[in-house]
Amino acid sequence: MDRFVIQGGRRLEGTVRINGSKNASLPLMAAALLTDQPVTLRGVPDLADIGNMRRLLGELGVEIAGGPAGDGRAETLRVTDDSESHARYDIVRTMRASICVLGPLLAARGRARVSMPGGCAIGDRPVDLHLRGMEALGAEIELDGGDIIARAPGGRLRGDTIFLGGAFGSTVLGTANVMSAATLAEGTTVIESAACEPEIVDLARLLTAMGAKIEGAGSPRVTVHGVEKLGGADHAVLPDRIEAATYMCAAAITNGVLTLEDCPLDCLLSVTDRLEAVGVRVECVDGNADPLRCAVRVAADRVLKPIEVTTQPHPGFPTDVQAQLMALLCLADGNSVVTEKIFPERFLHVAELSRMGARLFRQGNTVVVSGVRTLKGAPVMASDLRASAGLVLAGLAAEGTTTVNRVYHLDRGYERMEERLAAVGAVIERAGESA
Ligand code: EPU
Repeated sequence: MDRFVIQGGRRLEGTVRINGSKNASLPLMAAALLTDQPVTLRGVPDLADIGNMRRLLGELGVEIAGGPAGDGRAETLRVTDDSESHARYDIVRTMRASICVLGPLLAARGRARVSMPGGCAIGDRPVDLHLRGMEALGAEIELDGGDIIARAPGGRLRGDTIFLGGAFGSTVLGTANVMSAATLAEGTTVIESAACEPEIVDLARLLTAMGAKIEGAGSPRVTVHGVEKLGGADHAVLPDRIEAATYMCAAAITNGVLTLEDCPLDCLLSVTDRLEAVGVRVECVDGNADPLRCAVRVAADRVLKPIEVTTQPHPGFPTDVQAQLMALLCLADGNSVVTEKIFPERFLHVAELSRMGARLFRQGNTVVVSGVRTLKGAPVMASDLRASAGLVLAGLAAEGTTTVNRVYHLDRGYERMEERLAAVGAVIERAGESA
């Protein structure tokens, strides 16, 4: 298992191009199950989770040509065999997002067997709402041997009105599943309390290009008029708002200046609002550019101000940026308050940041961050992707050497992060795990 070794204290300066979004790509790839025509996706990032999704779709009879390693980053997915509908535990346990094949399989093949995802480092993460959504569309569901077995009576789902809200708001992949499944259902589906995340809007764009009839994606009420058949499409994946936010925090924590190209600024207003309150300047530098792909310059004041922040469903502050922002707040001049409302246990970085000299006091789902003048390099580790990103950022700012162990978590969501940080001035390298 690899680790990153970081010599902190270098100012970052230069340009980083933002990749296609991981969390958009996963349901987009799964949508290829809805048609026997080719679906071409442009800009899918080269990440471990994407590799897992390819493997899963391969087992489900999807042939994939091209891919991140070549061919201008376009990949074409096409169903060539629809006989297998089992997403096995072997793959699902490595990637919870495998659940997003459930809706497309059920809609296109009338049946699905998907291993039930277990808990993970950031919490229990149930899938009850996904199942509730499928049942509302007429699916019969049972559990057997740890697998969800779902069938559409008569081979086709039926549209209905579905309330998809839970205690925390809505569910992103649950909304993706129900919206995808409803495209081929008989009649009209109304999803109430749908997730409004930009990745849902991107999925709706692809599905619409495939021939689906969808209204309201990006709002809490999504209406889908079922069609008989979907066709192929060619789609450019939305740039990754979480990657962009992470590099914004990297510029800020090193007191550097980064220009982010292909930055989906329009999806990041809650993040830029909080960063500006800290004293980070974020400005679009290419005038009338597409607000989902603009060039953005990020620079920080020398003195960072403390703030309050609460994670919320979109358009609120994303849980996937909580750890990175917390790393930055460790160096603010005063006390900040960070509250996590989406995954109340998502604080694996707290104890590790404390090892670097941060002063953090957690109570329940709130952490008070008492800013310190400097962080100190240390060996650290976290078994959550975004927590690990927060630790890398802390390492970039810390005095001395920080070793971030088990970076396979980072590799799930950040493409060659060490090379990209090194290209803008960080002293960071990948090494095999120490004995
Ligand atoms: N929830 C339920 N029941 C369900 C589904 C969700 O109670 O059936 C709860 C969860 O436990 C959580 C909340 O709902 O408290 C929100 O979970 P959601 O379903 O929205 O999360 P997800 O769709 O499984 C996606 C991203 C996560 C991101 C969350 C929240 C992908 C592949 N994953 O997960 O991304 O944190 O939305 O925005 O899109 C990451 O990239 O590091 C990551 C974890």
